[in-house]
Amino acid sequence: MFSSLLLAWYDEHKRVLPFRGTKDAYRVWVSEIMLQQTRTETVSGYYTRFINRFPDLFALAEAPEEDVLKCWEGLGYYSRARNLHKAARTVVEKYGGVFPADLEALRALPGVGDYTAAAVASIAFDLPAPAMDGNLTRVLSRFHGVREDVDIPAVKRQLLALGQEDMPPVRCGDFNQALMDLGATVCTPGTPDCDACPLRPLCNAYREGDADALPVKAAAKPPKEIQMAVALITCKNKIWMIQRKETLLKNLWVYQLTEDYEQARDIEKALHALGIRAKQAEALGPARHVFTHRIWSMTLYHYEAESADCKEGRFVTLPEMLALPIPTAMKAAKEQAIRLLTPAVLPAEEGQLPALADVYSISWRESHAAHCSLDFLEKHTAEAMEAKLREHARQGRSVYGLWMANKAVGVLILDEKENELSALYIHPDDQGMGVGRAAVAFAVHALNAGKPMKLTVLCGNERANRLYASFGFTQEAACRVLDAERNLFEHDLLRLPESKKEERP
Ligand code: ADE
Repeated sequence: MFSSLLLAWYDEHKRVLPFRGTKDAYRVWVSEIMLQQTRTETVSGYYTRFINRFPDLFALAEAPEEDVLKCWEGLGYYSRARNLHKAARTVVEKYGGVFPADLEALRALPGVGDYTAAAVASIAFDLPAPAMDGNLTRVLSRFHGVREDVDIPAVKRQLLALGQEDMPPVRCGDFNQALMDLGATVCTPGTPDCDACPLRPLCNAYREGDADALPVKAAAKPPKEIQMAVALITCKNKIWMIQRKETLLKNLWVYQLTEDYEQARDIEKALHALGIRAKQAEALGPARHVFTHRIWSMTLYHYEAESADCKEGRFVTLPEMLALPIPTAMKAAKEQAIRLLTPAVLPAEEGQLPALADVYSISWRESHAAHCSLDFLEKHTAEAMEAKLREHARQGRSVYGLWMANKAVGVLILDEKENELSALYIHPDDQGMGVGRAAVAFAVHALNAGKPMKLTVLCGNERANRLYASFGFTQEAACRVLDAERNLFEHDLLRLPESKKEERP
């Protein structure tokens, strides 16, 4: 009676989910592992992506663990992904890649507990095993009027036995999934929608009027709060990361974490142990992540390292960082890291002019060193360049600072009236990190694309010429002689509007 009412309801009301409609044990197993402690809505997207990436057991078994963790990124409880990967290898080695149609053998796989073994056994192999998750526990305790703490082992056994009695001889997987759907949509925690329930005529808790008080559970211990400092340690365009060895988030990549953090000295000690020489540059504010048993109350800091030397972990670029599996607990830190590692082009503010002039002076002198006399070079001091920046601004040009990891690394000057990129200088130590590319992309955007854009460049500056060429700048005229003796020539580059390019012969 129980199962026929339930299955009739399921046939009409079952949820459409991407992992339904298959009896393939690999797919059922992947979905059931993902569904542990995770909502079906969240799992749906991850499941499809995971199956596309690892379409069968062999694809998963052969993949490096880091690829599996990357595909799991954001889903949490990462030990599930590590165990999934281990279990795939076990099924290949021990069972030739065929899942055993046996509850005990399934139960023995890494990461497979009573619930998952029963879910896979019933859905993939139609074996009569109740999959006792939170939903089944709630529905069965209400239906049968079990009014004792459902976390007590004897009560658990009692509910399992009741589930077994209710289980039909066929459609065992549908029976389990029907109870899951009923628990998720009708017999919900708190106040259930008894009017919509197919089991209402036989339900003990409905009759007694205490469905909302069931199942009985002891109050959970509140999670422990841990004070944690997260140091984002940059060195030029790289940031320090480490693969965790601790059980929580094992093998995932994180920034430098100092647990039980009280004062800056605690971070400095940790940095010293890692062989990193760095100074604090900026406090970046708080972040919080709630795990099941723990809360990380984080304070984020930016540290600037003197060099990329370290005894453990490694300094990675932004694309390298984005390829690593990083847990959601690091969400705020990762956003800050992306910001720090992305070159920024910002209008120069008054207070920033001395720092920008310093960079301007150093980079101007470096680029002209081969071409000018020493005393001419030395005239281009930071003070002189600050005056020059002010003069540019006074003449109506736009002065921008180029920043990387909150550090001034260059200057860009645009003349909107002339539609000209008047100057672009990047500190010699900070070249080759994509700052120039970001600045030219910005300039091309800021200037008028409907008119020819102009700039002047030294003929021998191959790097700059290649960069401008990649944005569509072409040389329009012969080189001009600046100083033949010093082999100093320059030429104009033009970037024509699309329409003008087509008109060309
Ligand atoms: N929760 C866990 N497994 C499930 C399944 N197969 N269907 C719906 N919800 C679930």
